[in-house]
Amino acid sequence: MKQYNFAIVGATGMVGRTFIKVLEEMDLPINKIYFMASKRSAGKTITFNNNDYIVEELTKASFDKNIDIALFSAGGATSLEYSPIAASKGVVVIDNSSAFRMDDLVPLVVPEVNPKDILKHQGIIANPNCSTIQAMVVLKPLHDKYTIKRVVYSTYQAVSGAGMGGYKDLEEGLKGNPPEKFPHPIAGNCIPHIDVFTENGYTKEEIKMINETRKILHEPNLAVTATAVRVPVFDSHSESINIEFEKPFNIDDVKKTITNAPGIIVQDDPFNNIYPLALEAAGKNETFVGRIRRDESVKNGINIWVVADNIRKGAATNTIQIAEKLIAYWNEEGK
Ligand code: A2P
Repeated sequence: MKQYNFAIVGATGMVGRTFIKVLEEMDLPINKIYFMASKRSAGKTITFNNNDYIVEELTKASFDKNIDIALFSAGGATSLEYSPIAASKGVVVIDNSSAFRMDDLVPLVVPEVNPKDILKHQGIIANPNCSTIQAMVVLKPLHDKYTIKRVVYSTYQAVSGAGMGGYKDLEEGLKGNPPEKFPHPIAGNCIPHIDVFTENGYTKEEIKMINETRKILHEPNLAVTATAVRVPVFDSHSESINIEFEKPFNIDDVKKTITNAPGIIVQDDPFNNIYPLALEAAGKNETFVGRIRRDESVKNGINIWVVADNIRKGAATNTIQIAEKLIAYWNEEGK
């Protein structure tokens, strides 16, 4: 099998480190791999598949070497500046930031949901927001079968979604120290504020969930609303999702449809205390779904509880699955 050259941009960060773990686990056809971060980290050592690599400073010349795929997770500003440079040199960038997600020329991909969108890329492919990804793997098979009319998201998001700083705020907060990353203490608290507020009273995180859902499902007018909340959990986002369908359904069929969908593990035996939990989803690549039940307040509605590791399926795993799919398409084309 043909092998490809990779770069990891933001290799020292929360998602970057998980890229490394997931790449080791998933066995992609890697020839050379380069690790890049800011000047602060240049010269540090990273171990990948038992070999040591020196972290390089990301510069405009970083992509002058022969690189096929660059996985970016170094914040929106870095992506905005360096992804176009990489793409202009023939590198395919898979970007974990929100910088290009809503750009019409940039596919936004969850491989279980809209893999063929990858084929439309022009050098940059965007990885969706963590909260969107875990919802998409469940919504897509349900939409195909029952046609979704409206979605209401309520999220319970882990501090790791805010990077190392978020993690530190919870660790320090548990010792009684004040927050540095979040606007309020996160230990013992729920903060209904993720990313910045916009004019209409929604946060950018909520707007990302709404717009990205429409783009990935190819339903630009779908009725979607969201409330995103940061909770004192280290890893894994949990979501309560209320869905209304156009078509009537049998709840056992809904459960079967979710059970048979790729990338999902159903944990739904509430009388035996079995339902998805953040602590159990942490470190896993799948999305966990439970509490599947009819919404008795509307004609064709359900409520579900969806949990996934936001740094894995919500970020690193999904990005690497996009790379894997891209390589599969290249192999079909003989590239
Ligand atoms: P560094 O560790 O050198 O600061 P997190 O969001 O978990 O804090 O991680 C952010 C990642 O993005 C880190 O790897 C960080 O590198 C990297 N990064 C931040 N700013 C830049 C930049 N201007 N150029 C390259 N990498 C950057």
